[in-house]
Amino acid sequence: MLAKIGSAAVLGLEAQPIEVEVDAGRGMASLTLVGLPDAAVRESSERMRAAIRNSGLNFPGNQRLTINLAPADLRKEGPAYDLPIALGVLAASGQVPLDGLAETVVMGELSLDGSLRHVRGVLPVADMARHNGTATLYVPACDAAEAALIPDIEVYPVSTLSELVAHLQGIYTLEPVKVDQLLAPVDPPPVVDFAEIQGQEHAKRALEVACAGGHNIMFIGPPGAGKTLMARAVPGILPALSLEEALEVSRVYSVCDMLPADTPLIQQRPFRAPHHTISNAGLVGGGNWPRPGEISLAHRGVLFLDEMPEFSGKVLEVMRQPMEDKVVTISRAMGSFTFPANFMLIAALNPCPCGHYGDPERACTCAMGMIQRYRKRISGPLLDRIDIHIEVPRVPFDKLARATRGEPSASIRARIEAARQRQRARLGGPTLACNADMGPAEIRAHCALGEDAQVLLRAAMRQMHLSARAYHRVLKVSRTIADLADAEEIQTHHLAEALQYRSRVLEV
Ligand SMILES: Nc1ncnc2c1ncn2[C@@H]1O[C@H](COP(=O)(O)OP(=O)(O)OP(=O)(O)O)[C@@H](O)[C@H]1O
Ligand SMILES: [Mg+2]
Repeated sequence: MLAKIGSAAVLGLEAQPIEVEVDAGRGMASLTLVGLPDAAVRESSERMRAAIRNSGLNFPGNQRLTINLAPADLRKEGPAYDLPIALGVLAASGQVPLDGLAETVVMGELSLDGSLRHVRGVLPVADMARHNGTATLYVPACDAAEAALIPDIEVYPVSTLSELVAHLQGIYTLEPVKVDQLLAPVDPPPVVDFAEIQGQEHAKRALEVACAGGHNIMFIGPPGAGKTLMARAVPGILPALSLEEALEVSRVYSVCDMLPADTPLIQQRPFRAPHHTISNAGLVGGGNWPRPGEISLAHRGVLFLDEMPEFSGKVLEVMRQPMEDKVVTISRAMGSFTFPANFMLIAALNPCPCGHYGDPERACTCAMGMIQRYRKRISGPLLDRIDIHIEVPRVPFDKLARATRGEPSASIRARIEAARQRQRARLGGPTLACNADMGPAEIRAHCALGEDAQVLLRAAMRQMHLSARAYHRVLKVSRTIADLADAEEIQTHHLAEALQYRSRVLEV
């Protein structure tokens, strides 16, 4: 008898339908698995055999079993085919009714005792099922909530093989998951509150502007000035994710197998702080089966590069294209994979190797050549992509010892939310969510300048030798500053503030 079970393969961020065909026939007892399986899929036959026996079911050991994973030209990886293969074997040997199983999506890794284990990438699989009009999914119970984030499909949480078999035989009823209660917003208190950061008003204001519009920002200052501290405070002022954005982010984490066990939907903007020893593939993504890297894990959130000159020059350069395109494409023999990478960059560095260049109180001990070499590690094109350059001086004792607290993160965040609201209303649409997402057409439409402002910008462009990219970026930052002030038009002082953030702090 021939049985067909629907399943899915996750490739990059997308899922594709797979059909598991099992043929059980007379002949010499054997088991053949075909259809480009990798090692984990091949081991599946052993797990499946034990799981079927230990579930009190009958493994047709005296038949000739042929298992085909179709389409045959697509490589299959991972243990998620255990469950569809086991079901196929049971159906082909007449232990489970066949009806409708080809029109479902079944996935799950089996333990030898027949219980189901977590598999990665259930969210894109559920999305694929909806697009293809497949209404029923059987997934491991621990992954069911994640799949159920996609509306209009029925997701059945399966704990054990015998439970699913009983359900299909009609002697037990599995209930599909309901997900509404999972979407309650969560709002943990910030790790570092802005109220605890003394002084640095200029840098705090710049961070507010950066977060309000999604602009890239760089801090330069001596050791202990509070650069890392301020960056760590950023998650507390980032605007909330919309549901569409949350699903985009969760999808990346789902295929990377990084969704926390009890939270199927990521509702906080990501904050990724990779160490400077990270590899190219770790940062932008890669591997045999391409997986997203840190820039994609930071999608819709923040990528924090602390001590930026310590990162290898090559690693920083591979970020350049994704920073412009907001996606990264990785090519492999089996095809090319595109991952989203729309992040806000926060970079921090010292002005020189000893950290005290330009410090009024401590002399710098570095030779000029050393300083120049140090700074050259961050290339001009990369600097050009950073909208806001801020000097963070050391905090004097009087300010540090002050008893008064600064403005708390909650009220800064409220202003940022309001500014984002204005941007969403103007730009409308999930791909264009904030000012940093604007392209030349949107800039033309929304960043018109008055006559005075135009004169100022022309003079500044000439004096500061701004590139066309910098010109567009200055306009976008000006738009954000105007949004923070609830101003319809960009005014001259908004532009002036944006220009001041472009001052060349890295020039020696
Ligand atoms: N402005 C500030 N207000 C309050 N505390 C501060 C401030 N700046 C620094 N500190 C204190 O100093 C510690 C170190 O600051 P931080 O790690 O941010 O320095 P940094 O600028 O990143 O230095 P480095 O260049 O060495 O990395 C903080 O954890 C905090 O205790
Ligand atoms: Mg630091």
